Amino acid sequence: MKGIILAGGTGSRLKPITNYINKHLLPVGPFPMIYWPILKLKEAGIENILIITNKHHLSSFIELLGNGEELKVSIQFSIQKNEGRGIADALMCAKNYIGQEKFIVILGDNIFEDSLIPYINLFQKQEMGARVLLKDVSDPMRYGVPQLDQSNKQILSIIEKPVNPPSSYCVTGIYMYEPQVFKLIENLQPSYRNELEITDVNNLYIAESRLEYDILKGWWIDAGTHKSLFQANMHVYDKKRKEDIG
Ligand code: G1P
Repeated sequence: MKGIILAGGTGSRLKPITNYINKHLLPVGPFPMIYWPILKLKEAGIENILIITNKHHLSSFIELLGNGEELKVSIQFSIQKNEGRGIADALMCAKNYIGQEKFIVILGDNIFEDSLIPYINLFQKQEMGARVLLKDVSDPMRYGVPQLDQSNKQILSIIEKPVNPPSSYCVTGIYMYEPQVFKLIENLQPSYRNELEITDVNNLYIAESRLEYDILKGWWIDAGTHKSLFQANMHVYDKKRKEDIG
């Protein structure tokens, strides 16, 4: 299985520092943010990784990561041509890289505690479709929010940035797909914010009853704001402190 990390975007919620640096290069603990999803993939045995970014920041990523040798993974890069056109649009850059295998996508600003191993194992056993990971959060309005039928372990729909969230869960930026997802994206219409939304892709899987989910057990953070970036650092240093004590 291959891994895709999305590391483009404008980082608008982290300005002014993102005026000159890509947010995925900002520090979280002792590493640049992008290291964390790479290390999570590596821990799960995924060593072939494609990083999708934009043309302005490609050289910084290459300078930092090269071909991945230092982290003992194999890294390739791709550029999202239509900047700001959304997560699903960025994902299209992975089509040739993926070929015919199932794969996992992580938004590069998602920093989390759980190992991916159990979820990837479940997805490998899943016959068809896609799988998302959810997390109970205090501010669901910031995210894609699922309406759940927990007794049947089903997602009924997902609403992006809802005014009235149908649950307190968010769909995290960790997604598992089969290559058929690229066909779905090709037929997608842009949303009101002129993006190809990953939530629309996931709703297409729901319509075919082919979207499954798990709930993350440990902490999870979308480190895309000043406050959440600070919280991600707190979690990492808190973990380190506990390890040092233990
Ligand atoms: C994106 C997705 C959203 C998801 C979130 C997780 O939001 O659109 O569904 O819940 O990532 O980090 P964005 O960070 O682009 O606002």
